[in-house]
Amino acid sequence: MVVFLTLSEKYSCVLWFYTGIFLLFMGAATALELCARSSVEVTSQAVAQSAEKRIALTFDDGPSMYTERLLDGLKERQVQASFFLQGQSIQGREKVVERMQKEGHLIGNHTFHHVKLTSLTEREVQEEIEKTSNEIYKVTGCYTSFVRPPYGLWRSEIEYHVTMIPVLWNIDSLDWCNTDVGKIVKKVVSLARDGGIILMHDCYDSSVKSALQIVDELQKENYEFVTVDQLIYE
Ligand code: NI
Repeated sequence: MVVFLTLSEKYSCVLWFYTGIFLLFMGAATALELCARSSVEVTSQAVAQSAEKRIALTFDDGPSMYTERLLDGLKERQVQASFFLQGQSIQGREKVVERMQKEGHLIGNHTFHHVKLTSLTEREVQEEIEKTSNEIYKVTGCYTSFVRPPYGLWRSEIEYHVTMIPVLWNIDSLDWCNTDVGKIVKKVVSLARDGGIILMHDCYDSSVKSALQIVDELQKENYEFVTVDQLIYE
């Protein structure tokens, strides 16, 4: 578009004006398509698998040095997950966040400094969330609508100040306080159910290993892995 503006100043021609409108339109259409996160692809895959039980893997606190390995494993298994990012961890790992979006994962907000939102003033809550959403936007070109409040601490009043959908969980892997992969996998698999939202963290090596084994186990049980927006809206 920079090229277009320079030329239009020079020639000031009607043809350039219409070319500009066309390019703008195409640009907006491409951006919208990207923001839709290949939902069509994901949906058709879901139909092809015709699984009856749907479950969502969610990862908090990233991106971290382990996230790429997790993305590799999820890609191999054709699984999309939901990542709730800490704003302060995005800088320096922009490529990982870009990859999440390209590979159809949902990107959500986990505040900037990983804070207890219920201990903050309205203004501080807004800052924590907006700053993180802006970091995500800078990398992906999309604003996320989903927030995972750290420690699950949320009050309905917060919704009046930020237009975000809070996403909690109903299956806790407790992977942050246990590095035994076998135990984590066993726990999650035993609690798995249709509509489950599994809480994990992509900032531990043991969590990445556990998550991929959980996928293998639950796929054998005919579970379909979906992102949280699919679980909510589809
Ligand atoms: Ni957290």
